[in-house]
Amino acid sequence: MPEQTRIHATRQDGVLLLGLNHPPLNTLDHALRQQLHDALHAAALDASVQAIVLHGAGGNFSAGADIREFDQPRQPPWAGDVALLISASAKPVVAALQGVALGGGLELALAAHARVGTADARLGLPEVKLGLVPGGGGTQRLPRLIGAAAALPLMLEGRNVDGNAALALGLLDEVCDGPVLLDAAVRKARALREGALARPDRIDDAARQAGLAAVAAQRQRLAAKPHALPAQRLLLDCVAAALEQPLEAGLRFEREAFLQCVASPEHRGLAHAFFAERLAGKSPAGAARPRPVQKVGVVGGGTMGAGIAVAMLDAGLDVVLIERDAASLQAGQDRIGGVYQRQLDAGRIDAAARARRLARLSAATDYAALAEADLVVEAVFEEMEVKARVYAELDRVCRPGAILATNTSYLDIDQLARRISRPQDVIGLHFFSPANVMKLLEIVVPGQVADDVVATGFALARRLGKVPVRAGVCDGFIGNRILYVYREAANFMMEDGASPYQIDQALERFGYAMGPFRTADLTGGDIGWATRKRKAATRPPEARYVRVADRLCERGWFGQKTGRGYYRYPERGQRGQHDPEVLALIDDERAARGIAARPFSDEEIVRRYMAAFVNEAAKVLEDGIALRPADIDAALVNGYGFPRWRGGPMKYADDAGLPAILADLESYAKEDPGFWAPSELLRRLAREGSTFGKLNRQP
Ligand code: NAI
Repeated sequence: MPEQTRIHATRQDGVLLLGLNHPPLNTLDHALRQQLHDALHAAALDASVQAIVLHGAGGNFSAGADIREFDQPRQPPWAGDVALLISASAKPVVAALQGVALGGGLELALAAHARVGTADARLGLPEVKLGLVPGGGGTQRLPRLIGAAAALPLMLEGRNVDGNAALALGLLDEVCDGPVLLDAAVRKARALREGALARPDRIDDAARQAGLAAVAAQRQRLAAKPHALPAQRLLLDCVAAALEQPLEAGLRFEREAFLQCVASPEHRGLAHAFFAERLAGKSPAGAARPRPVQKVGVVGGGTMGAGIAVAMLDAGLDVVLIERDAASLQAGQDRIGGVYQRQLDAGRIDAAARARRLARLSAATDYAALAEADLVVEAVFEEMEVKARVYAELDRVCRPGAILATNTSYLDIDQLARRISRPQDVIGLHFFSPANVMKLLEIVVPGQVADDVVATGFALARRLGKVPVRAGVCDGFIGNRILYVYREAANFMMEDGASPYQIDQALERFGYAMGPFRTADLTGGDIGWATRKRKAATRPPEARYVRVADRLCERGWFGQKTGRGYYRYPERGQRGQHDPEVLALIDDERAARGIAARPFSDEEIVRRYMAAFVNEAAKVLEDGIALRPADIDAALVNGYGFPRWRGGPMKYADDAGLPAILADLESYAKEDPGFWAPSELLRRLAREGSTFGKLNRQP
């Protein structure tokens, strides 16, 4: 089969325009790299070519490496080889950037002699998000171009900048409008043809000293972080090499660092999480077309409703907020205003952007205001009867075809749907707190929901910049159901002898930013307490129940907001201190139950926690609540703080080995056969020598 044309060449007098043409994002697959390489070689030998413009067809420059080549050995020419041809060209090369210019794409542009771009172009080196250092010369050329102090944060965080910010940094030489981008690039190329080409390979002493100081400062910052990635440390080494060594030596150093990253478990974990999100994001509704959504209703302006409204406004949607009375409505609007005020204070948005968003918000206590809504998200109190009354109102006022979504955390959405005249329009959209920040959106699919409603949920999630994961209806759906079980495992260990502080520390060393008890203090003990009281009557009498959390709540110790929880918080916002009174309370509970405290190693804490975690996750799969292991990984990484560089709990299980996890479960089951009963799916996979990863690959 003839190779597709990945490079479109045209000419304007003596200027050769080379257009990257690999829709939609012009990723740098092997064919593109080879053809660009050949075109640049030919241009060097062609006397009629006096200058070269590099641009991207179809509205984007290039998103960088082709992820489909990830798992295969990549073949030369590398992006770095092509970049070298560009930077070594005796004829000026100008890059014209629009849309995305990321990763390997930006690295090509960095090798050019000048760069012009549009204001809305996105420029960045996001490799670190996959646990990699840029491998096409980015770590060497970016610090040379804009200085190490500016280059480091961009690369260490993998952040994008727009065209105007890039101009201010010196990353672009000129910003212009899209329609005249190529003209501007050609003009620039002609101007460069007249003069001597700048060779910014050398770094002067002052820049070197300033750069090394910036490297040292970042090194200190990373050293204080418990889970800095190897790629971040190697990035600093690469930039130091850029400052201290000639370009060729620096490029060799970068290549070594890149290969080291490729072989690291952190890269494999991060790449796994990336692919898991892509898999989870595919709508299970097949070819069903999403319904159009522009006007959204949000019922309930509390913690979640306000955050959901902000997420919708940020995505350009019109929002109608509904509350039960005027005072609650004002409080809801104030919550939304507060979010934007904090964003303004932090410099994340400007006053004009805030005004544009708030102009799309309206508020009412009368449900009639929802008559035109395309989709309504209900976020009122977590009580079936309250929600059912709201749904009856929605059924009455909303136009036919409007989607009626609920943000419930636990309630039976099938029951809610059955109680109105249009169950096909009812779906769960389970946001996480804060809803405008957290990436996970569980799309809970009740039995009668129409396919195009499910498709709309997935399309909306993409529009909101969320990671959608399809979940079936059960108590807690995917995330909260699994959370409940691993939190129980932590409670049992606490009662059996590990302190909450040791458990938190062991899990923070494992990779969590916060252990489970610290997290409980942050979210507030009162919510869980109310749920436990509600469920007390239906709790199986034989199940083990740890009362420590209830005892804390009885004293009014709800966590950070009350100054005490598992930890003490003498000052607001401070990291919690160990509390001897909490330890004494736990001792009392043990005594009351006749439990003799025994020591736990940090390793045992992690093993028990993860065994409970993986076991419940396997049951969630078995029950069809999650479609694939990757969906569970995507959910737990994006909604529950599971360390992303480990890929997710199912990836962790595969890495640890399913037979080892099963053996742990069987040994713990001797203490408490009900809680630790191994999942059938886990047993089968372990027996067959299979993995969760293999289930992801099944169609
Ligand atoms: P909240 O108590 O902060 O807010 C509930 C709001 O609903 C209040 O402002 C209340 O005035 C309003 N409301 C009550 N009845 C109403 C009615 N009939 N009509 C209009 N408004 C009414 O509660 P929160 O935390 O925002 O939770 C809301 C829902 O979101 C619950 O179903 C909860 O389970 C769920 N959820 C909560 C999360 C959290 O972290 N807080 C996370 C994910 C879901």
